[in-house]
Amino acid sequence: MNQGEIKIDKEMLPEHIAIIMDGNGRWAKQRSRPRVFGHREGAKSVRKVVEAAARLGVKNLTLYAFSMENWNRPKQEVKTLMKLLVSALKNELPLMRKNNIRLNSIGHTHAMPGNVQNELKEVIAATSDNTGLILTLALSYGARQEIQHAIREISHKVKNNIISVENVDEDIINKHLYTQNLPDVDLLIRTSGEVRISNFLLWQIAYAELYFTDELWPDFTETSLHKAIADFQQRERRFGKTSEQIAK
Ligand code: IPE
Ligand code: IPE
Ligand code: MG
Repeated sequence: MNQGEIKIDKEMLPEHIAIIMDGNGRWAKQRSRPRVFGHREGAKSVRKVVEAAARLGVKNLTLYAFSMENWNRPKQEVKTLMKLLVSALKNELPLMRKNNIRLNSIGHTHAMPGNVQNELKEVIAATSDNTGLILTLALSYGARQEIQHAIREISHKVKNNIISVENVDEDIINKHLYTQNLPDVDLLIRTSGEVRISNFLLWQIAYAELYFTDELWPDFTETSLHKAIADFQQRERRFGKTSEQIAK
């Protein structure tokens, strides 16, 4: 592994890294190739970054693979993305086994085609005993829809006297989100130069450090990940307190 001069303190890793993997289409366009070509290349970046995160000892990595809004893309592109997803799940199971990775998913996954759901279930089951990196794929995911879903569930429970209104707090809300078993995001990375959140993990990024890079997703490497983590480690997370309080 070539870490170059990038210094990472392994004792101070972000507990949860989330990535908005953007720029596949532009990467392909720069090469006068169809967008699909970029998605295929993007899948290779996923493998590299997942392996790199596991190697470092990162506990949680969440990848925005398909948004609720992405359903509005041309039918053919959506179809190809689903195909790529199925083959990636099939092909990467050995890698997950080898690296002790546990697969998880968030989102309205019931909207995904049957074969994607089946493959997903299989790989999640096959890796459920692994104790290393928890790799969460956000599929058919939208943060507002997630919050709406949580509010509905909580409302039903209140109506049926399972929980009282007074008990509805942050903890209860957390437990009704798709991310119920995951800690808050510490570091959110977005590639491709876009500086927006695009309906990703709105609740969970409340105090995340945001990192934006111009690199397009297919160009994002292990070194890029190390750079983002090193940048994160330079920051002072004050959580509302003063610098002096933090120093203590
Ligand atoms: C990210 O790349 C992949 C998905 C959203 C599925 P894009 O396909 O958004 O690439 P650009 O933004 O058009 O370059
Ligand atoms: C966000 O990328 C969704 C994923 C990376 C899966 P988009 O490319 O869809 O986001 P916008 O539409 O440019 O905000
Ligand atoms: Mg995009």
